[in-house]
Amino acid sequence: MRHLSGTRLVLATHNAGKLSEIGELLAPFQVECVGAGELGLAVPEETEDSFEGNALIKARYAMSKSGLPAMADDSGLEIDALGGKPGVHSADWAEFSSGRDFGKAMHRVHGELLLSGKERPWLARFHCVLAIVWPDGFETTFHGLCEGQIVWPMRGLRGHGYDPIFLPAGMDKTFGELDGVVKNRISHRFAAFERLKRVCFT
Ligand code: IMP
Repeated sequence: MRHLSGTRLVLATHNAGKLSEIGELLAPFQVECVGAGELGLAVPEETEDSFEGNALIKARYAMSKSGLPAMADDSGLEIDALGGKPGVHSADWAEFSSGRDFGKAMHRVHGELLLSGKERPWLARFHCVLAIVWPDGFETTFHGLCEGQIVWPMRGLRGHGYDPIFLPAGMDKTFGELDGVVKNRISHRFAAFERLKRVCFT
């Protein structure tokens, strides 16, 4: 397994929020992070039907264009009663000609759950995959899950995306109601990072 300490790493995301979140997580480990946007890299098309496949597409692309080790993440919401949907299409469900609208995406989730005829609890999980690709072609991925259920109506104004309808297991508040610090301690992204840290920094 490869260690990351002391490397210059491209973060294959154009999302400023993710960039600073990942940068902060890596800060204690002497990793110099540079964003794909800063290097003028394009955004590759995510054509795979798995989080792992799409995270690898982004990391491979950033590595091939920069010649540096590259890290990418891909994530989304999997709902059992919907056969794993919206899954890799989590962001797409919120795309409308008028712009991004997660309120509408959450209404669609609820509508499809009612149509499915499945009883509550509507079990679901957030899933995150982090992929790292090295210039010699060595690749590694780390998965993180946060189990829970879908609730309706929406609860809470915090967070982003599907947070107001996701109740994490063992909690009485949705991700939309939880303090960000608490959410970040139990999130799928945090779980994937914990795995990465154990392997790449110890
Ligand atoms: P991506 O990983 O940036 O492609 O994001 C995928 C999509 O999954 C996001 O746009 C959200 O719709 C959803 N998603 C991923 N993580 C979270 C989360 O922590 N809360 C709410 N929605 C999320």
